[in-house]
Amino acid sequence: MKPISEIQMLLLPEAQSLPAELENFPRFRYMGSKFRLLPWIHATLSEIGFDSAADVFSGSGVVSYLLKTMGKQVHSNDSLAFPSVLTTATVANSATRLSPNDLNYLLESKASAPQERFIRDTFEGIFYTPEELSSLDDLWSGIRQLDSPFKRAVALAALLRSAIKRQPRGLFTVSDPSRYQDGRRDLQLSVREHFIEQVEIYNAAVFSNGKRNVSTSGDVFNVKPGSDLVYMDPPYVPMADDNCYIKRYHFLEGLACYWEGKEMMMNTKVRKIAKTFTPFAYRHTAVEAFDQLFRHFADSIQVLSYSSNAYPDLETLRSLMGRYKKSVEVLEKEHRYHFGTHAAAKRNVVQEYLIIGS
Ligand SMILES: C[S@@+](CC[C@H](N)C(=O)[O-])C[C@H]1O[C@@H](n2cnc3c(N)ncnc32)[C@H](O)[C@@H]1O
Repeated sequence: MKPISEIQMLLLPEAQSLPAELENFPRFRYMGSKFRLLPWIHATLSEIGFDSAADVFSGSGVVSYLLKTMGKQVHSNDSLAFPSVLTTATVANSATRLSPNDLNYLLESKASAPQERFIRDTFEGIFYTPEELSSLDDLWSGIRQLDSPFKRAVALAALLRSAIKRQPRGLFTVSDPSRYQDGRRDLQLSVREHFIEQVEIYNAAVFSNGKRNVSTSGDVFNVKPGSDLVYMDPPYVPMADDNCYIKRYHFLEGLACYWEGKEMMMNTKVRKIAKTFTPFAYRHTAVEAFDQLFRHFADSIQVLSYSSNAYPDLETLRSLMGRYKKSVEVLEKEHRYHFGTHAAAKRNVVQEYLIIGS
């Protein structure tokens, strides 16, 4: 019997008919991912009439991909670079796959120039073995030579997912590579073995929905308004320091662009990238940021994902959105978030909200 897929599991409790293509989305472990809320988000969006949508804090890209499977014209955006690689490969890309020749070419590539051995030189003793670090450099040197931007995005997305799968807890805060060797398959495969699998997975995720979809990387306030609907899932004011995206995923952010233009903090144990400011993550700037956000997209139908353990509270947000939208409706759902390792697992039950302004 074919094992039941993660997406089919999602269907069980709610018996929603999610679009079939969604099964092909390469799930990416990402803090705050709405993967488990997709049936609810899909059911909610299905009730709204719209042709184009912007997912302006795209993260893992799963909501953008959902919108694409729903036949919408999608603009996907995130201030980090690696989420935009993921959505370039899966959302903006409607036809380009890596051929067996492309894959062979990448697997045979060797980093030769000193500037192509940056990862091995910079991260020695951190996260991966020297051989694995060299594999990342070698694959990158081949990716650089690929002639099409979509091919590069598919290859880089495969490399990013290989790197996160090979990292014990899927985050890059701890430097000791031997700490969590618990025999899991993902930790036993080499980066190259993962890469071969991931190329196949990302190739399978490519499809056309007949629309011209785009992916950008930049601040939300640089996204040109104009989509019929805007889906907003901003970061929350963090409860703990490691809620910061760049702290958890700095290695992926660097890997997405070979650390070009990134300010590295060489005095940190794990060679972090400097944090960039976002007004959504601080108590003293969050309220003003939400006001500006709703004003910026005043002409679109607004759908905001939010939760009961976040700041500011629901009533504040409802009234802020009410300044720009005639009707504001709140949908609610209980949700259990899983953070961290088994031992340190903090299971938080929160109310999830979809705040809809029209
Ligand atoms: C809660 S996550 C989004 C999760 C996503 N909906 C998913 O299902 O995977 C918030 C995202 O907002 C991004 N972000 C933070 N500040 C931003 C800003 N000012 N402009 C655009 N994106 C921003 C972060 O990089 C992060 O990926």
